[in-house]
Amino acid sequence: MTQCTIKRATIIGGGTMGHGIAQVSAMAGIHTTLVDLNQDVLNAAQAKVTANLDKGVARGKVTEEAKASALANLAFSTRNDSLAESDLFVEAVPENMDLKKALFKQADEQCPQGAILATNTSSLSVSEIASATSRPQNVIGLHFFNPVHIMKLLEIVKGEQTDADTLTRAVAYGKRIGKTHVVVNDAPGFATSRLGICLGNEAMRMVEQGVASAQDIDTAMSLGYGHPVGPLQLTDMVGLDVRLAISTYLYEKLGTDTFKPPAIAQEMVAAGKLGKKSGEGFYQWVDGKAVKG
Ligand code: NAI
Repeated sequence: MTQCTIKRATIIGGGTMGHGIAQVSAMAGIHTTLVDLNQDVLNAAQAKVTANLDKGVARGKVTEEAKASALANLAFSTRNDSLAESDLFVEAVPENMDLKKALFKQADEQCPQGAILATNTSSLSVSEIASATSRPQNVIGLHFFNPVHIMKLLEIVKGEQTDADTLTRAVAYGKRIGKTHVVVNDAPGFATSRLGICLGNEAMRMVEQGVASAQDIDTAMSLGYGHPVGPLQLTDMVGLDVRLAISTYLYEKLGTDTFKPPAIAQEMVAAGKLGKKSGEGFYQWVDGKAVKG
C-alpha cells in the first residue's frame, strides 16, 4: 500500500469547509497553513478548530498530546505565501469557477512539481478547473463533507487527465486522515451532490407548496428513512447560498427540472437567510444548534 508522504499543505478558504480540512490534515501530522482573505474568518476558524479538539478531549476521542500537536501543526495566514513548500494544495473557496481557476493558476505557478492540486468543489468540473494549470495530471477533486472532522466520507473525483499516481497519492492521504473514500468520475455533482440536491430541492418545493413543515419533512426522513439529518436541516448546515449555487450549476449542465433552483431558496438567500452560518434558514440556529419549534 502506498504511504502518504505529504509533509506540508496549504488550504485556501477558511470557511465552513476549509477550517475542517485544515484540522484533519494537522491532526494527521501534516504542517498545514489555512489561508483566507479575511482575518476575522481566520480567527473564527482557529476558535472552531480549538473547540472541536476540546470536545474530542472531553469525549475521550482525542488525547491532550494529539490536541497540542494538531494545534502546533496549524498556521493561519491572510497571504498565500506557503505554496512553494506545499506538496498538497486544497482549494475551499466559494463555488465559483473563475475564482477557483484563478487560484489554481497561482498554485500551478508556485507549488513544487508533483504536488497534489485538489479542489473541494461540490459540483463543478474538476477537468475545467484543471485546465487553468499546466499540470492537469496532478489536479483532483477531494470532496469532503460537513462537519469535516466528523464525517467519514471523502469523495475523490478523477478529472479527465488525472493520472494514476495522483489518484494513488490522494487515496493514501484519505487513509491517513482516517476517511473512507469513494472514487467517482468527473460528472456534474459527482455522486453525492447530484443525489443530495435532488432530495433537498424537492423538500424545499414541498415547503413552498405547504405539504408539511420543514421540521415534519425532516422528521419523516430521519425516522422513516433512517437519515441522520433531514434534508432541510442539512440544507441549513451546508448553507443555502452554497446549495443554490450547486443547484443552478446542475440545472445548467444536466437540464432536468429536478435541479431547477426552488424559488424559496432564491428568496431566502436574497434575504440573507443562509442557514446555520447566518443564524437563520429553515431553522433558527443558536450556539451551533438548530432550534426546533
Ligand atoms: P464559505 O463561504 O463558508 O467559505 C469560503 C471562504 O473562502 C470564505 O471565508 C472566503 O473569505 C474565502 N475566500 C474567498 N475568496 C478567497 C481567496 N481568493 N483567497 C482566500 N480565501 C478566499 O464556503 P464553504 O461552505 O466552506 O464552501 C467552500 C467550497 O466547499 C465550495 O466549493 C463548496 O461547494 C464546497 N463544499 C461545501 C460544503 C458545505 O457543506 N458547505 C460541503 C462540501 C463542499
